[in-house]
Amino acid sequence: MSSDIFAGQAGDAALLAAIYDLEHDAVTEDIGFYRRLIRRSRGPVLDLGCGSGRLFRAFLNGGASSIHGVDASPDLLHRAELRIAADPVLASAASAGRIRLTTGDVRRPPRGRWRWITVVGVLPHLDGPEAALQMLTAAAGRLQRQGRVVLDDIGPGGLPDRDLPLSVDWERAMEGRAVTRRSQLSRREDPDGLRVDYLTVTDAVRPDGTIARLPARFRLWYPSQSVLEGLLDEAGLAVELTYGSHDLGPLSGESDRRILIAMRRH
Ligand SMILES: C[S@@+](CC[C@H](N)C(=O)[O-])C[C@H]1O[C@@H](n2cnc3c(N)ncnc32)[C@H](O)[C@@H]1O
Repeated sequence: MSSDIFAGQAGDAALLAAIYDLEHDAVTEDIGFYRRLIRRSRGPVLDLGCGSGRLFRAFLNGGASSIHGVDASPDLLHRAELRIAADPVLASAASAGRIRLTTGDVRRPPRGRWRWITVVGVLPHLDGPEAALQMLTAAAGRLQRQGRVVLDDIGPGGLPDRDLPLSVDWERAMEGRAVTRRSQLSRREDPDGLRVDYLTVTDAVRPDGTIARLPARFRLWYPSQSVLEGLLDEAGLAVELTYGSHDLGPLSGESDRRILIAMRRH
């Protein structure tokens, strides 16, 4: 199975990546969290599954000495390059050699040692416990002595509790074109967590009035807390802190987010 989430989709990958950005750039509620997190201890950041670099500016504003972004999607990394070029702070850090991008699988991160390894919204895209363990084990081996891995995903309170029929999620403008996004999901409880089959259909009106219809399908996995803790333990990681929101609320069954900060077991 390819780790590029857009590979093999029926829609054009570059357009899917642009629409992905349109959707994800609207997510800003975690920016302050990451700025403050890095400020606790400034150092190099490895952003696994960095997408188009949405969090890079928060890392730099927090005082990251360098950022290495890894993602399996060349189209999203291309968009990260565009983001860097368009932002003078990112551009100057990149020209000083403080931002690097690598196309690759999060299960095989580049060599090096990092103070922070961030994995934001990536775990659900991995195939299940085996792939997650590979990623966590590799991350554990890339931490500095004081280093921490940050796992940040939808929490138990944000997960769907029933199948959802095809319905409109949002309508937005992109480069003067109207974009409508619909999605449908079906869910299945498994012993290792929740499996979600997520189908999106995005219509983008072209300048000539015709419509580009982009279907895409994502198989997502939300490990149960006990399965995730077992995998962290197996990877040699110990959970230091948990949060249920980016404003540091406690993690509970109702939390919108599940944020785990883990360190190597010494
Ligand atoms: C929901 S996005 C999150 C992007 C970014 N971390 C953020 O918060 O904006 C998930 C990202 O993980 C990447 N991804 C999923 N599986 C991957 C894998 N096995 N190796 C590398 N990247 C992967 C996808 O390409 C996508 O960019």
